[in-house]
Order: sequence, then structure tokens, then C-alpha cells
Amino acid sequence: MTADSLRPDAIIARGPDLRDEVEHLVREDVVHRRVYTDPALFEIEMDRIFGGSWSYLGHESEVPQPGSFVRRRMGRRQVLLVRTAGGEVRGLLNRCTHRGTTLVGEERGCRMRLTCPYHGWAFDLDGKLLNLPVADSYDKLYERPFDLGQLRVESYRGFVFGTMAAEPMALAEWLGPAMPWLDEHIDRHPQGALRVLPSAIRQEYRGNWKMAWDNAADGIHATFAHRSYNLLGREADTDTVLARNPNATPMVSRTLGHGHCVVDQRPGIPAGPWSTMRPLPTRDDLEATLRDSGRRTRENLDLMTGSMVNLSLFPNLIFVGNQMMVVEPLSVDHTRLSYSLVLADQAPEEVNLMRLRVDEDFVSFGTPDDLEMFERVQEGLQTVEEEWVDISRGAHAGDTLDEHGHAVGDIASEAPIRAYLAEWKRLMASPVPTTVRRSRIEAAKFTNRKAGRRAAAGT
Ligand code: FES
Ligand SMILES: [Fe+2]
Repeated sequence: MTADSLRPDAIIARGPDLRDEVEHLVREDVVHRRVYTDPALFEIEMDRIFGGSWSYLGHESEVPQPGSFVRRRMGRRQVLLVRTAGGEVRGLLNRCTHRGTTLVGEERGCRMRLTCPYHGWAFDLDGKLLNLPVADSYDKLYERPFDLGQLRVESYRGFVFGTMAAEPMALAEWLGPAMPWLDEHIDRHPQGALRVLPSAIRQEYRGNWKMAWDNAADGIHATFAHRSYNLLGREADTDTVLARNPNATPMVSRTLGHGHCVVDQRPGIPAGPWSTMRPLPTRDDLEATLRDSGRRTRENLDLMTGSMVNLSLFPNLIFVGNQMMVVEPLSVDHTRLSYSLVLADQAPEEVNLMRLRVDEDFVSFGTPDDLEMFERVQEGLQTVEEEWVDISRGAHAGDTLDEHGHAVGDIASEAPIRAYLAEWKRLMASPVPTTVRRSRIEAAKFTNRKAGRRAAAGT
């Protein structure tokens, strides 16, 4: 899985030392507006956070067979997650080693060779240069690395993460206390089998990418920002979990280190997730089919509704119910969210059909509320004289520390915001050494071939 056979190029640490600046910008209970509005800080984030640390690239089920690839981004870099002829998963930089053209324009596909549209250099999915036209016309080509650049990728139970860091933290250490929560999410699916559907739902907003993180574990906003969604549920006599009094609910939020966090709504829903199920198209029919065939079990009902556990892995993956939301920063005030629909591959067909209906529901009737709030926050932060954003809620009102020293609170706490910003500070404070990895085996082959030709020609 890990491309350990690759050798790192030169190790580079770019950009200024920001230790003093990040101390100024992120305080104990306030954060400066520039963290959301400054384009220069954004460019450094694209290097030190997206690249300098692990981030989510995709799921192995998205590249099921040799030749499969999906195109992703890590900060400013375009990345191809590919399945090689040997069945390995690799992360290739979608950047031709000739003059830099992106090799692949499609979002996904299947082919064994990537040919650059500009001058026809062709690479295999191990990143090796297979062929280039008029090879002998390049005098100095063989002195340079010309196989495709790669990043370090590692898979945890099918979830593939990547990094450009020269000496990354072990993936298991980075996941840390988030790992058992990820295990629990996977193990809810019969035989642990998840399949990510190829088409994602995409939404964009004119706001900073960290708005999505400020919102991920914000248990108070739902009562207000999602009022219309909650009213729809009430009218249908549904248990509208989002509309609870946040001070009176036993739901909990936990910070998990490295900016990760989880919100567990289950303690507030003793009757189980299905009790919150809204009237959705085909719901009654699918439930009846399960009942008639003796498969209307608590497990199947819960699988349809979602886990009621939202796990967030900083900086770009948030599990929202059955969906996986990927946060993709496009510019300092422009962000794309991609929601991947996930099927439980070994569950009854009715369960998966219902999961598709559930997935459409909140994205259609709830998420637009959040996006509007993000855009209004971004607009409000344009007032330069008002410098500070408050993130103090819960700090002095009942948050406790768990055995790892991580904050645990009720869902009114803003501890998850303070926790991801602590990780932001750690990564942004000083240059993170990064590198491109690649194999240079083919260089010798090409060199020898050329030398051989020269020898044959008597030159
Ligand atoms: S830029 Fe790719 S072959 Fe020239
Ligand atoms: Fe929301």
C-alpha cells in the first residue's frame, strides 16, 4: 500500500516562520478575522495543512480494478489516486514531468497508461515514463528525474490518506483516538463492507473552508439556522433531534486530537435513529418489504437512517450520518463541499435504496441553511475594525478532559473549534518540510538505450 520503494526528491521547507503571528491570531477564546480572510495565510494553508499533514484522498472502492483512477486535489496540487497493474493504490501528481501539463482532465476513468495531451509523453500507473516521442532529441533529459512525482499514501481499512510531508507522522498516530470511532463507523456495515458511489453531490459557497469546521460540531446553530427543516419534521410528527434544547440534551461532543472531533447524538435518541426518520419518498414501501421478509431489524433500520455520530477528521473529511463530506478549499473565500454517498455492500437492497433517499434529504433541505450562514459570516468579517471572532462557549462551563487530555463537552461547547484551531496553529507556525517521491529506475534504462544507440552509430 505505502509506496516505500519510492525515493524522496530534495526536501523543501518553504515560507516564513509564523510562530509569533499565529499566537497573535488564535487566542484562548477568540480568533482573528484574518484567519478567514487573508489570501496570504490561505496560500500557506494550502502548503502546510493540505500537504504538510495527512488528508483524505478517497476510498479504495472508488478505484476497484487495475487502471481505475480518480482525480482529487490536495491544496493547490492535483492528485490522481490510481490502482496499478499490480493492484497497489498510489497517489500520482497530475503534472507532466515535461512542462507541467495536467495529464488527466476527467474526474475518473480506467486506463493502464496516462498520455500527456501536449507532447505525448506516456506514463504507466506506477508513475514510470514508458515512452516519449523523439527521445534522442533531449540531450539533458536523462540527468533529471522524469518519472511522475508521487505522494505518500496509506490506507486505513479502505480509507486512503495522502501527504507530501518528508517525514510524516504515522497514520495510526495521526488518527489517534479518532481510530476507534472510524472503526465503529466501518463495523456498522455488514462485514465492514462500504462502497462509495462514483457520483458525489457538490455544493459551493463563497466563504472560507474553515467555516465548515466551525460548524461541524456546533450543536446550537441547528435550532436556529435549520428552523424550516425542523418545522417540516414537526409537522410530520418526527422526532426532530436538531431542534432540541442544546442545554438539556445528553448528546456529547469530544475532541480527539490533531483537530479531529466527534459528535455523538445517540444518548439523546433512546428510541434509536429510526425514530427520527422523516417521511421520505418510498420510505413506507421499503419498510413494508423489509417487514414482510422478516428483515425489519434494528440494525437494518439504523443502517438506513445513519449512525447519528458525526466524525470529523481534520482537515478535509467529515462523516455526516451515512455520507462522507469532503471539504475542498478553492480560494480564501470560496469552498466546495463534496458529499459521497456510501452503500453498505452486504446489506439488503431496500436498506441501500433508503440510504439514497436519506442522503438527499438534509443536503436538499438543511445544508443550504448552513451555506447561507457561511456566506453571511464571510461578509460580516469584511469589517476590518471588528477584528475578533468569539469561540469561548463552553470553556468555563462544564467542559471536562478525557484520559488523553482532550476536551469533552455537551453539544453547546465550542471546544471542537478551539481544538482544530490548535492543530491549525501547530501546522502553520513554521515551514513543514515536504518532498516529491518518485522512482528513478527507468532513468538508467533510457540512458543505456541512448548510450547504446550512440555506440552503434559510432558517436
Ligand atoms: S508537457 Fe507533457 S509531454 Fe510536454
Ligand atoms: Fe447545520
